[in-house]
Amino acid sequence: MPMFSTEGRTKTFQERGFPHAAYPTGWFQVGWSAAYGPGQVTAQSYFGQDLVVYRTEPEDRNPLGRIVALDAYCPHMGAHLAHGGSVEGSCLRCPYHGWLWDADGRNAQIPYGDRDSVNAHTRSWPVREVSGLVYLWHAADGSPPCWEPPHMPEADADDFYPPYPWAIHREPMRMHPQFAAENFPDLAHMRYVHRWEQIPDISLWQEDGPVLRVDYEGVISTPKGPVRVATENTAHGVGLNINRVSDGLRSTTLGAFTPIDQTHSEGFITVWVAKRDRQSREPDGLARSIAAANKQELFGPTADRRVWENQRYREHPLTVGYEAKYTRAFRSWSRQFYPEPVLAAPVNSDT
Ligand code: FES
Ligand SMILES: [Fe+2]
Repeated sequence: MPMFSTEGRTKTFQERGFPHAAYPTGWFQVGWSAAYGPGQVTAQSYFGQDLVVYRTEPEDRNPLGRIVALDAYCPHMGAHLAHGGSVEGSCLRCPYHGWLWDADGRNAQIPYGDRDSVNAHTRSWPVREVSGLVYLWHAADGSPPCWEPPHMPEADADDFYPPYPWAIHREPMRMHPQFAAENFPDLAHMRYVHRWEQIPDISLWQEDGPVLRVDYEGVISTPKGPVRVATENTAHGVGLNINRVSDGLRSTTLGAFTPIDQTHSEGFITVWVAKRDRQSREPDGLARSIAAANKQELFGPTADRRVWENQRYREHPLTVGYEAKYTRAFRSWSRQFYPEPVLAAPVNSDT
């Protein structure tokens, strides 16, 4: 018998109870530096927009070139600049009639007719490359960046393996970034989703503008028996979550969630695993198994993902004990990334 889904089309975040119509403000991952060769042009879609993302040719100030993200459709007659567009210096030439657009999105040249250029532009998005990751800035009101994405000391340290391309993964998920971010104050789920033997207690809660650090430790069940784990968790906005495990074999995981549209986000994971032997060049079996376990923890079918992809957002959750305090604290911190007023009532709310 074939199986039929009765769930119909994918619900939007608002239909799932999320009270903000605008995408959150902040830095969001869109890839890894090493994946963009010089002159490479890619089509991507985030924040409900089609984008063209490319790396410029080497420049005096940027010998490796820099990554540029523009709205995808040429202002002239609407060609998608990623499908056949070519990089010239820091500019992109449209495949349709050859108009040239600079890294700020301005028309730089028209190769025919009676004018050299026109006063027209396509939007250029703020981009950063930090510690081997590529980030895009999104602000609901179009304002420029007011903080920077995180620098990862592991990326410069010779006692960690570089994670690209063996300890990374990206995949669209049917969820809003806030769903993942709310794991920060949620210690009870560590017991039920992540196999911790007991619900841990928070030893540090530190808010610093767009950065929130939450530490806790406890005992986790592994196939080889119980292991004590201490974790440092740092959120940079609601789209970037860093988890540092300092006991046993050290590893650092950056989980990132970038809205694609009103139903999906792209999930990214990057895992820096410490070397047991500093001279080691290639990740050994243990390092690979740690990276694989971390990927599984985020993308596996029985992990957080199973909950997030089917979850309904509770604007007023039922909380017990310490949950109330931490959930309230987290939501009040994360409110800064949603500058618009809360919707009066989520669409199709059943609460
Ligand atoms: S559509 Fe791009 S140059 Fe004409
Ligand atoms: Fe989780």
